[in-house]
Amino acid sequence: MRYRSQSVAYWYFAVALLLFALQLAFGFLSAVKYLGPDPLRAVLPFDVSKTLHTNLLVVWLIAGFLGAAFYVVPEESEVELHSPRLAYWTLALLTVTGVAAVVGYLFGWTAGNKLLEQPLPIKVSLVVVMLLFAYNIVRTLARGARITATAGILVAGIFGAALLYLPSLLEFSNYTIATFYRWWTIHLWVEGVFELIQGGLLAFLLLRLTGIDRDTVEKWLYIVVGLTFATGLIGTAHHYFWIGVPEYWLPLGGFFSALEPLPFLGMAIMAYTALRRIEEPPANRVALHWALGSAMVALIGAGILGLAHTWPAVNRWTHGTLITPMHGHLAFFGAYAMIVLGVITYSLPFLTGNPDAEERRGGLGLWSFWLQVGGMTGMTMAFAAAGVAQVYMERILGFGYLETQGKIQVHIQMLLAMSLVFTTGVLLFLWDFFVRHPRRGIHLREPTAEPGPTETAPL
Ligand code: HEM
Ligand code: HEM
Ligand SMILES: [Fe+2]
Repeated sequence: MRYRSQSVAYWYFAVALLLFALQLAFGFLSAVKYLGPDPLRAVLPFDVSKTLHTNLLVVWLIAGFLGAAFYVVPEESEVELHSPRLAYWTLALLTVTGVAAVVGYLFGWTAGNKLLEQPLPIKVSLVVVMLLFAYNIVRTLARGARITATAGILVAGIFGAALLYLPSLLEFSNYTIATFYRWWTIHLWVEGVFELIQGGLLAFLLLRLTGIDRDTVEKWLYIVVGLTFATGLIGTAHHYFWIGVPEYWLPLGGFFSALEPLPFLGMAIMAYTALRRIEEPPANRVALHWALGSAMVALIGAGILGLAHTWPAVNRWTHGTLITPMHGHLAFFGAYAMIVLGVITYSLPFLTGNPDAEERRGGLGLWSFWLQVGGMTGMTMAFAAAGVAQVYMERILGFGYLETQGKIQVHIQMLLAMSLVFTTGVLLFLWDFFVRHPRRGIHLREPTAEPGPTETAPL
């Protein structure tokens, strides 16, 4: 960290981590409901607990992305942030909006569109958050020495996410049309612009933690961006198979989405290339674990487990079963949660004024990493076993929905057990962040201390 104003990131990360913990509580409550009589059904039915679980996920990831951008952009552009004060106001508005949405859901205030349940005033408020962020970043970039591909692609991804939120402001009474446009936001986020954010943050971490040169990283970054758009745009149609639109979407969606693992493969190769260039392991090995882990787990969770059910001939059996959260969990965790946790782990010593914490070769940080990766892998396996059994019993043998659920309880129990392992890892992360390394101030690094942006030519 070279610039004082980068420290606004700390508060974004603190809010993100608290919302992450809350997200898990509602995930746990959602899973318990699968096990039978639900004493909370009257006050907190499944649809509400799941909405809270997924919406909190999106809000904490956005807080993490914005915080990461406020950390990365000044360093890459070699300039203080345009307005730290505005950045704090932006965070305050994001937090208030998130809390209002959560409380609103508890009282049935919802727009009811899966993953885009936010009522209109909440959506408008989120648009304002993104506009304030955009203004601050554009002014910063304009004053900066240069715009690197790493920062440019990261910021383009966040701006893209804001732009793609706009279709969700429209309401349609026709269910097919509403679903058609819903994916313009959800799919084009996770299999489009969010990938640019992951790519940008991964590139930043690899540049800081390995010996890879900027030219190589940025070459891979351009390949990833190209592949993302070449496959992900028309790949949207893998959500159009059964919603009542013309049949030509089936081959189009099947073909293009089957190629969607490619950008994730690109990121994995970029990370592997960087790994091979390490001459001396970095002091902050835990951050390196998160960065490399994000590239690898995303390839498996998004790429391979996405591919597993994206072909229409397979998806006609698996659509809307527990196979979907099998993929959704590992994909979201690998691609987006892990990269945010990686940036937090990397920046924490600077943001808290604990330079000694930079020396992270193992211990608690690695326990947290492996418990989360192990727990989430176990949860994915449990969802997979439950999903395959569900498809077979419900869709091939013709058992009823509830009868099938009764027979797959053991997998839900396994899901809960694994989620406890995962939660232990997350609690260790929170303890490390809030208790073990409390904020004492900030730690500014000498410009010469790391291979910095000045060593390469500007774009
Ligand atoms: C304590 C850990 C967790 C538990 C017990 C849990 C449990 C659940 C359950 C039961 C559902 C509903 C599945 C259904 O619709 O039938 C769900 C949905 C979801 N969860 Fe989690 N979850 C946990 C952590 C996470 C994490 C860490 C992430 C992301 C990083 C995540 C992302 C999602 C997503 C995206 C969905 C929606 C999936 C879909 O609609 O198919 N969850 N979760
Ligand atoms: C990081 C990237 C990704 C994330 C976070 C992600 C997450 C999700 C989530 C949460 C859902 C459930 C959505 C809903 O039902 O509302 C979903 C559905 C789906 N995803 Fe992904 N995904 C990613 C990448 C991919 C890729 C690369 C593929 C294909 C290769 C893919 C294939 C699918 C398919 C086919 C469905 C529909 C499942 C169904 O029919 O029920 N996903 N994804
Ligand atoms: Fe998709």
